[in-house]
Amino acid sequence: MSSIEAFLARADELERSAAAAFDAAADAAALTDARNRFLGRTNSERAGLKDALGSLPGPDKPAAGRRYNELQQRLDALFETAEARVAAASRTISDTLDRTMPARATWQGSVHPVIQVINEIADIFRELGFTIALGPEVEHEWYNFGALNFPADHPAMDLHDTLYVNRPGLLMRTHTSPVQMRTLQRYAPPVRVLAPGNVYRRDFFDATHAPMFTQLEGLAIDEGVSFADLKATLMHFVKRFYGPGVPVRFGPSYFPFTEPSAQMGVQVDLNDGRGKRWMEIMGCGLVHPAVLESAGVDSERYSGWAFGMGPARIAMSRHVIPDIRLFYDSDVRFLEQFR
Ligand code: PHE
Repeated sequence: MSSIEAFLARADELERSAAAAFDAAADAAALTDARNRFLGRTNSERAGLKDALGSLPGPDKPAAGRRYNELQQRLDALFETAEARVAAASRTISDTLDRTMPARATWQGSVHPVIQVINEIADIFRELGFTIALGPEVEHEWYNFGALNFPADHPAMDLHDTLYVNRPGLLMRTHTSPVQMRTLQRYAPPVRVLAPGNVYRRDFFDATHAPMFTQLEGLAIDEGVSFADLKATLMHFVKRFYGPGVPVRFGPSYFPFTEPSAQMGVQVDLNDGRGKRWMEIMGCGLVHPAVLESAGVDSERYSGWAFGMGPARIAMSRHVIPDIRLFYDSDVRFLEQFR
């Protein structure tokens, strides 16, 4: 084999093994090693080939030099390709993160507008010594009706109005008034409680009715409590909640468990172009002696008052909401307005 043939074979071998090494390099460090080994200025395969070129006989030098230059260009190109591949593989999230991009809004929960009203009312009554009492939503007929002095044939007990549970004597409570009885059975007077909770009626779901809605019951029992106490307390509440100027009216009403019974209305302007109008916000009255006796409370010694209001209606008036269903739809576009 002539020396030019040996030179060209060595050049081919160098090209093959350098290409394979660049290709196999998994990271920047491995690639730098390969480059030093094959292309380094000194002590590399390429440097060795250059020395071999120098020691070839004169007539072989032009052909060997062309091959040497061509090899050098190809290896430089192969190295650049490998370098780009390794850099792309090692790119991290922080290289691709666009810090100027606006953040995605995160959903924050909020207190439901009806619960907000309940909390506000509870704050006002807490200052007057009221505590929170709770009762079950699946209730005994006796607590819901019987103990509350409903006559046996009272129309409120019709299947039409009430959702019964498939167990004798059980129903979904139609109001929070059974909590009056449960409280009086548990605690001796004086008693002052506020009982919020869900109630159920067999009603159509329309703009002003819902088959489930929230009520807030109030009960105060002590010696010598009169209608004047009821009225004074409710006037105080309305002034605190709606502001001092709000017109208030009491009208006669009927509930089997209060005597006398009243309903209380406030005049509100809903800013809907229809001007001021009366809105009944609660039923109330002096607790019927028969109710006290059902609970084992001496009705000669103790008396008291109770009310039941609809916080959803109050929230509707406060926020000028025309349809009660919006409160129960769980639509976050609606609910997030009440943060
Ligand atoms: N429970 C009555 C209702 O649901 C409201 C009420 C409560 C009335 C307490 C008087 C006293 O309509």
